[in-house]
Amino acid sequence: MRPIRLALTKGRLEDKTVEMLERLGYDCAPVHAKGRRLVLPVVGANMEIVLAKAADVVTYVENGVCDLGVVGKDTIMEMGGTFYEVADLGFGLCKFALAVPVGTDFYAGYHTRCIASKYVNVTRAFFEKKNMDVKIVKIEGSVELAPILGLSDAIVDIVETGVTLRENGLTIAEDICDVSARLIVNIASLKMRKKEIEPFISEIEAFADRNR
Ligand code: PRP
Repeated sequence: MRPIRLALTKGRLEDKTVEMLERLGYDCAPVHAKGRRLVLPVVGANMEIVLAKAADVVTYVENGVCDLGVVGKDTIMEMGGTFYEVADLGFGLCKFALAVPVGTDFYAGYHTRCIASKYVNVTRAFFEKKNMDVKIVKIEGSVELAPILGLSDAIVDIVETGVTLRENGLTIAEDICDVSARLIVNIASLKMRKKEIEPFISEIEAFADRNR
């Protein structure tokens, strides 16, 4: 049988996930020397690490080609999908927020607001809850540009340190919800490879509890 595959979100969450695995005793040396490789073995364990973009972590886990995945709650909220979300890892802490140009009042006036976001589903759900009709424009990244260029009145985005907002003349109008890294599991894998996956989940849960 192939090794258990753990998909990691490249970038922000990658280092913290590898650090967690190493603290749990998994030898991730190949990840440190990865070069351009995207599938790396965990030394001495029947496990391999797959490095993927956040949305693709969900896709690979949902389709069962990876058994487990580490991905931000932001991506899970945006994409939905059919898998188990089994642990809040307690790192990758940030929040979803509605942000506007400094000095503007988002709620003043009656015109239909235009909101730019990479997270159109999260944005839609947020404004539906308020019964507010808005126009949503999908932007792929650096969404702060949209209000600067005059395309939108506001953005919905993740905020970690707040530096990006500040340096681009934006400020939080409203917090939406907290976000952190989550461990997700393919539904069939959890049944078929229970003996391997359940102890791994327990280790991760214990790690997350210790770090809370
Ligand atoms: C995210 C987010 C903000 C920034 C916030 O972008 O979209 O641009 O981080 O971080 P801060 O509050 O610490 O400044 P990311 O770097 O993930 O890239 P993206 O624009 O491609 O989504």
